[in-house]
Amino acid sequence: MSRPRVLLGVTGGIAAYKSTDVVRRLIERGCEVKCALTRSAGSFVTPLSLEVLSGHAVYEQEYLTANGRGEESHIVAAQWADAVCVAPATAHLMARLALGLADDFLTTTLLAFTGPVLLAPAMHSDMWSHAATAAHVETLSNRGVHFVGPEEGPLASGEVGVGRMSEPVDVAEAVMRLAVSGGAGVTGALAGRRVLISAGPTHEPIDPVRYLGNRSSGKMGFALAAEAARQGASTTLVAGPVALPTPAGVERIDVTTAFEMRDAVYRHAGEAELIVMTAAVADFRPSSPAGGKIKRARGVPTLELEENPDILAGLPEVAPRALLVGFAAETEPSVEEATAKLARKGADFLIWNDVSRSDIGFGAENNEVTVYSRSGEPSHLERRPKEELAVALIDLFRDALEDRERSAVGTAG
Ligand code: PMT
Repeated sequence: MSRPRVLLGVTGGIAAYKSTDVVRRLIERGCEVKCALTRSAGSFVTPLSLEVLSGHAVYEQEYLTANGRGEESHIVAAQWADAVCVAPATAHLMARLALGLADDFLTTTLLAFTGPVLLAPAMHSDMWSHAATAAHVETLSNRGVHFVGPEEGPLASGEVGVGRMSEPVDVAEAVMRLAVSGGAGVTGALAGRRVLISAGPTHEPIDPVRYLGNRSSGKMGFALAAEAARQGASTTLVAGPVALPTPAGVERIDVTTAFEMRDAVYRHAGEAELIVMTAAVADFRPSSPAGGKIKRARGVPTLELEENPDILAGLPEVAPRALLVGFAAETEPSVEEATAKLARKGADFLIWNDVSRSDIGFGAENNEVTVYSRSGEPSHLERRPKEELAVALIDLFRDALEDRERSAVGTAG
């Protein structure tokens, strides 16, 4: 997918200064951002700051007219954006939007925009709880407009209450999910779910220039992360050393060794409902990596190895409620071995890969797998591009999550 395009509307409130950080966070996450200021927003944040940070001219009042190429600027902007976010959104902006008023560039563009809209309200708590604001929020929600915040905390007046704009990082995350999924971040099949995926190899240092590694490219894991995000999940990807771009809407954590991967996975595992370990974690590491480069002249070295922690096998304890999926890279198919591995790792699913073939598995564009589960017969997914396989697998894991929740409700009832 190309870079998600976000139009960030900024309205006139004290929280407008936070909009520069929202731009920065969106760009960090791979978005292209253009900004539109209302008339009063310019008193709180300068167009120049937003222009420099976003790398685009800022839409202001004069853009209401044609842009000199015979095009209406608000229509061009509405057709350009994948998502529109207004942060901060004042009570006045929400009222104008609810009534369909179009008296400046931002509201005219919002009226012409057909994609997902996210508002990050910011105002005094009395304004937020006013019946007029509540009615406008309800109208907008019923119309499919999404909200992030407001939060409770210190307000500009010095009082404490509900009305603070959500933190820029939370606004950026929410916009990303909407932009990537075309609204699925709130309504998608995995909306509201947290998914954690590991991908790629680990590199275990022998000395400062050499390592033990394997041929995993990370493609399978990255395809799964992209699909989870597309279905609206809040997706974290722990990536070993690979040369792949971060899928849109995915939070990526780069690691090198098995120990680093374990720490990153365990740090995020507690909040995840689905954990998929596609990473080809090195089972062994050199016991004592040399501090300096091992010299050829000293003769052939002997490498002593020791076992790495088994990340997946530790997950039932770290994340007892998560659905756990292991991938297995094997050269000879064996039902007995797959079943034993599933039990040994404590996983709910084991996805069996044949890495003896060059057209699938390590580094290949395609993959073909057999799915083993604790309950049920193994099923085979025929060879197809890893992106297509990722769709089938994420659908399968999502169904399993939903089945598990249904049976938990049944048991409780
Ligand atoms: O990355 P690609 O080029 O796209 O290739 C994809 C793939 C072939 C690498 C992938 O589909 C795959 O099979 N990944 C699992 C590779 C592997 O490590 O298999 P394993 O049988 O050694 O491990 C089984 C499971 O335990 C895996 O989920 C692995 O992440 C996990 N494990 C293994 C060792 C260890 N120390 N800790 C672990 O958590």
